[in-house]
Amino acid sequence: MKKNLFIVFTLLTALYACGVKSAQKGAASSADLATGKSLYMDKCGKCHPAFDVKSKSVERWNQVLVPMIKDKAKMNEADGKLVEAYVWKELGVKG
Ligand code: HEC
Repeated sequence: MKKNLFIVFTLLTALYACGVKSAQKGAASSADLATGKSLYMDKCGKCHPAFDVKSKSVERWNQVLVPMIKDKAKMNEADGKLVEAYVWKELGVKG
């Protein structure tokens, strides 16, 4: 009986965690943001300085971010998403 209760509790906790996660749709974890930041510093500072994200407008980022990630830095999809999450977070938009 005790064991069953434990299982139910574990399942509920897992369900709750999933619910919370999907409720914050698009929000990256702080670990993801830290990885995004280090990727940014590492890969985006090769041709030009790794700009202070806030020194460019949201409009400018909308124009250049994806082309930079894909065409210039040639990052894979997963890393690209982490960099995107970091940039938008810094700007205080999207997630
Ligand atoms: C292979 C070299 C190269 C790499 C790597 C690179 N960039 Fe660039 N970046 C450029 C060049 C060249 C320009 C200027 C041309 C233009 O404006 O389209 C530029 C322009 C920019 C601008 C616009 C600057 C402005 O003053 O408006 C931003 C922002 C930017 N890059 C961000 C990034 C980010 C973020 C990454 C990493 C994902 C990155 N870049 C990686 C070459 C690179």
